[in-house]
Amino acid sequence: MIQLKKIFLILVCTSVMWSCAQEKNGFDREIERKIDRLVKKMTLEEKIGQMNLISFFNSNIDQQLADGIRNGQVGSLINVVDPALVNEYQRIAIEESRLGIPLIIGRDVIHGFKTVFPIPLGLAATFNPGLIEQGARVAAIEATSTGVRWTFSPMLDISRDPRWGRIAEGFGEDTYLTSVMGMAMVRGYQGDDPADPTAMAACVKHFAGYGAAEGGRDYNSTFIPERVLRNVYLPPFIAAIQEGALTVMTSFNDNDGIPSTGNRFLLRDILRDEWDFTGFVVSDWTSIYEMIPHGFASDASHASQLALEAGVDMDMMSFTYVSHLGELAAEGKISEKWIDQAVRNILRVKFKLGLFDNPYVDEQMHKQVFYAPEHLELARKSVVESAVLLSNDGTLPLDASKTKTLLITGPMADAPYEQLGTWIFDGEEQRTVTPLTAFRQLYGNAVRILYEPGLAFSRDKNPAGIRKAVAAARKADAVIVIVGEESILSGEAHCLADLNLQGAQSELIASLASSGKPVITVVMAGRPLTLSREKECSNALLFAFHPGTMGGTAIADLIFGKEVPSGKLPVTFPVSSGQIPVYYNHNRTGRPFLGNETFIDDIPLKAGQTSLGNTSFYLDQGIAPQFPFGFGLSYTSFAYTNIHLDKVLYGKKDTISLTFDLTNTGKRSGTEVAQLYVCDKTGSVTRPVKELKKFERITLEPGETRTVMWTLPVNDLAFWNLQMEKVVEPGQFDLWVAGDSVSGDPVLFEVY
Ligand code: GLC
Repeated sequence: MIQLKKIFLILVCTSVMWSCAQEKNGFDREIERKIDRLVKKMTLEEKIGQMNLISFFNSNIDQQLADGIRNGQVGSLINVVDPALVNEYQRIAIEESRLGIPLIIGRDVIHGFKTVFPIPLGLAATFNPGLIEQGARVAAIEATSTGVRWTFSPMLDISRDPRWGRIAEGFGEDTYLTSVMGMAMVRGYQGDDPADPTAMAACVKHFAGYGAAEGGRDYNSTFIPERVLRNVYLPPFIAAIQEGALTVMTSFNDNDGIPSTGNRFLLRDILRDEWDFTGFVVSDWTSIYEMIPHGFASDASHASQLALEAGVDMDMMSFTYVSHLGELAAEGKISEKWIDQAVRNILRVKFKLGLFDNPYVDEQMHKQVFYAPEHLELARKSVVESAVLLSNDGTLPLDASKTKTLLITGPMADAPYEQLGTWIFDGEEQRTVTPLTAFRQLYGNAVRILYEPGLAFSRDKNPAGIRKAVAAARKADAVIVIVGEESILSGEAHCLADLNLQGAQSELIASLASSGKPVITVVMAGRPLTLSREKECSNALLFAFHPGTMGGTAIADLIFGKEVPSGKLPVTFPVSSGQIPVYYNHNRTGRPFLGNETFIDDIPLKAGQTSLGNTSFYLDQGIAPQFPFGFGLSYTSFAYTNIHLDKVLYGKKDTISLTFDLTNTGKRSGTEVAQLYVCDKTGSVTRPVKELKKFERITLEPGETRTVMWTLPVNDLAFWNLQMEKVVEPGQFDLWVAGDSVSGDPVLFEVY
């Protein structure tokens, strides 16, 4: 009897442990039981139908699509954003298909839905994950009010090449910052309960390494060794998945010859076996079929087999699954177990989103939430915190009481469509507050506002308008010239070899400077640009990315000092595109730049072959970027003093405690983004010259000093070594606390 009791107890404990483990890995027993029951009823065609994702932009019901849904051949839709139409398609799926499995509706909600926030690269510049989470929550509330319950965001591609147009959509060059921002967006989109009607499933993309496209050319090949993949490109995905991200999207690129959409190592060995991911994997747009032009698949049937076996659960718009998986299974070329696994992953997300219980959307809800005042204010605040002050000779902030006449000029001064930035399907330009509008509305009573476009659009080469702008400048006390990029010049497939301002924009700024009046240049763009000439011509330079709906209001408030800039660069700005790739956390070399090198204009004639020394730099442009990662000015200044660690020697399981004093040494209150960097001085492999490990926004009154206490687990210093183990190696480390990636003096500590 006792033996039986023991066996029973063991069984109970095992079952409890199994279910706990399952819950941890995102498996809910009740949902798994429902999936079991449903999959048992499904035909092979119905299973494959769930794996078929179709995009539809039409605003009226399409009978062929309706038939496909009715026959169980379509599992998800994207780009249907009319609530009544969503409900009609959903009704057909629920009431007219054999098993009544609901659709999931997706959309690219990348930086807002109707209320448009700054592009993600700008959001990263806030170094404020709480704000990013709030913004993502607003985007979810607005998008789900139309029936969208899945967004293809956050994009977590690390990019070190501003020629790549999609650098606009990510959080820049740093792994830690991208991880923190990605987690914040997942929290914002999915909320506390994905089944809440205002929650939408996040889709972390593009898995993986897409931002390393050779030459910064979109869709191009990447060559990322596994260790670099694990140390630089994958951590943001792990972080977002551990935060609960429900879906993953594969990337277009091949890495060392293997397209991600057919990369079993990525999609099964890492994503499933190492990370226990329980959501579903969707291909990117036709990326399954594109394995044929990749030269990786011989035809569509072969492509569908490769993708399925690699671990792609859902086919976005290549129709290969719905066209070929049935016959491949019938011929025994693929195992139906892969199809069952894929369907289970998809159904699991649909259950988690509560779509079986609440498939329909309130068709009036959107009227209550679009452009809600609190949404617009959050968007304005996001612009204020994302704008980066790159230079200022003291001209900013302007004093409205002493500025009688202000000229607003430049092709981006009143460009409501362009200001929204890339990936805007739902934002409306007529709701955009442009800088011209804002300056007139907010400051037009106190200041006479003149306006001359100068150029008609960012690529405009016609200098005719420049003369009129310069003439107007002569009548003004100060000039605000707003330049940059039309929104189409960044984003997917929109890469540039030359990062100088397009058209005659530089000429416009130089001509305005010749007026002798103070010139404040504001840049709205989707990527770092090469701005050395504009910096020289301007009294102040403010980089506002593409700021979205409320960009004008925020920029006007920053210019007149109602708001104080606090943004920091999430990506390095090169002197020229010839410096690319240029990023702060590069590896050490055997002959690092020393700073005493001879530059091209100082080289004597007939200089001897070895006379210049042998270090790593450019004769014509050195090694320093125009503006470094983490850099950004304020209208006040800050000093870092008394940086102390609690010990000098740490064990691998210790936590470093450090304190430092931060003082506002200026005359205005302001917010500093204090940053913590570490360098592993000697490793079993060469290590980056420094890596961001922590940051915090700290607001101080003039003259105020705050003693800040931070902790950093030694384990955060771990990296993947040659044995593919994530380890902290003993040895010496340098630590910096500063306001950017190039300032401060190192503090030494050691790990034993
Ligand atoms: C695109 C993009 C991807 C986007 C998808 C759906 O090609 O690569 O980021 O989410 O298609 O629009």
